[in-house]
Amino acid sequence: MTTVAVVGTGVIGASWAKLFLAHGLDVVATDPAPGAEEQLRTALEGTALDRLRFVPDAGEAAAAADFVQENGPEREDVKHALFAVLDEAARPDVVLASSSSGLLPSVIARGCPRHPERVVIGHPFNPPHLIPLVEVVPGRDTAPEVVDRAVAFYTSVGKRPIRLAREVPGHIANRLQAALWQEAYSLVERGVATVADIDTAIAYGPGLRWAVLGPFANQHLSGGAGGLAHVLAHLGPPTEEWWRDLGRVHLTPELAETLVAGVDAELAGTDQQSLVAARDAVLGGLLAAKAAQPDLP
Ligand SMILES: NC(=O)c1ccc[n+]([C@@H]2O[C@H](COP(=O)([O-])OP(=O)(O)OC[C@H]3O[C@@H](n4cnc5c(N)ncnc54)[C@H](O)[C@@H]3O)[C@@H](O)[C@H]2O)c1
Repeated sequence: MTTVAVVGTGVIGASWAKLFLAHGLDVVATDPAPGAEEQLRTALEGTALDRLRFVPDAGEAAAAADFVQENGPEREDVKHALFAVLDEAARPDVVLASSSSGLLPSVIARGCPRHPERVVIGHPFNPPHLIPLVEVVPGRDTAPEVVDRAVAFYTSVGKRPIRLAREVPGHIANRLQAALWQEAYSLVERGVATVADIDTAIAYGPGLRWAVLGPFANQHLSGGAGGLAHVLAHLGPPTEEWWRDLGRVHLTPELAETLVAGVDAELAGTDQQSLVAARDAVLGGLLAAKAAQPDLP
């Protein structure tokens, strides 16, 4: 594998390009927005760009690629049209992976009458050059061997891919986040806590442990010698009570306004660029610390 097509070079495409270039791959990038090439080069400042080529259209990028990573707008009609072009142009053995945050791969593959079996979701987390997770999701027609090849490719560039057995809207990590957001929004709506306090509850509470171990392994450790079996027997019944009280929210304009005002109050006086830089610096340190701990799964 030497050449990756990065189709769509917005927030996610630019970050994928940074990762691929850092791993010594050739990148053929494309994006129809005016000034896209300049924006990409600015976003990639500090990365060696001798292996980057920007081409005017998606077909040309796909024709030159050994693997295609698509990052266009999250709209079914746009993905259909784009995948029709990619399917037409790419060699039949080339995997067409979409970064889509939640569309079903079977729906995206409807744009590909030639080779729907090579369409797969390769969903990263922002920013892909830092966060290791990639969710690899097969559609109805995706060949198992295509999933294997996507997993092998992402592993080769330092990612931590997981494979879903079947497609569901939002894949899994975004569904888990959505479940948490629903309750967080509900707690604000019910006036139980402020946006800032809920952010503190996660960022200085369970979020710290979740960055080290997932929810199941953490819960297992909460059970001492009895592990998860003990926790489920002991705390399962009260947890079921809490589930019955969890909120279901609608994102009304009033609720959206309250949430935005809450985050504005929380971050008043904080410069957004500095916050992104601080987040990324801490993430880098955390990932290095995790890599140095062989006992972590
Ligand atoms: N932003 C996130 O946190 C995030 C995380 C994971 C996955 N994703 C997914 O990644 C994809 C891109 O999201 P983003 O946040 O980078 O959006 P974005 O708006 O920053 O970038 C989308 C880019 O696609 C370009 N584009 C429009 N039409 C195109 C076409 N026909 N061919 C190629 N490029 C085209 C646009 O000019 C734009 O630069 C979406 O499918 C999204 O669901 C986003």
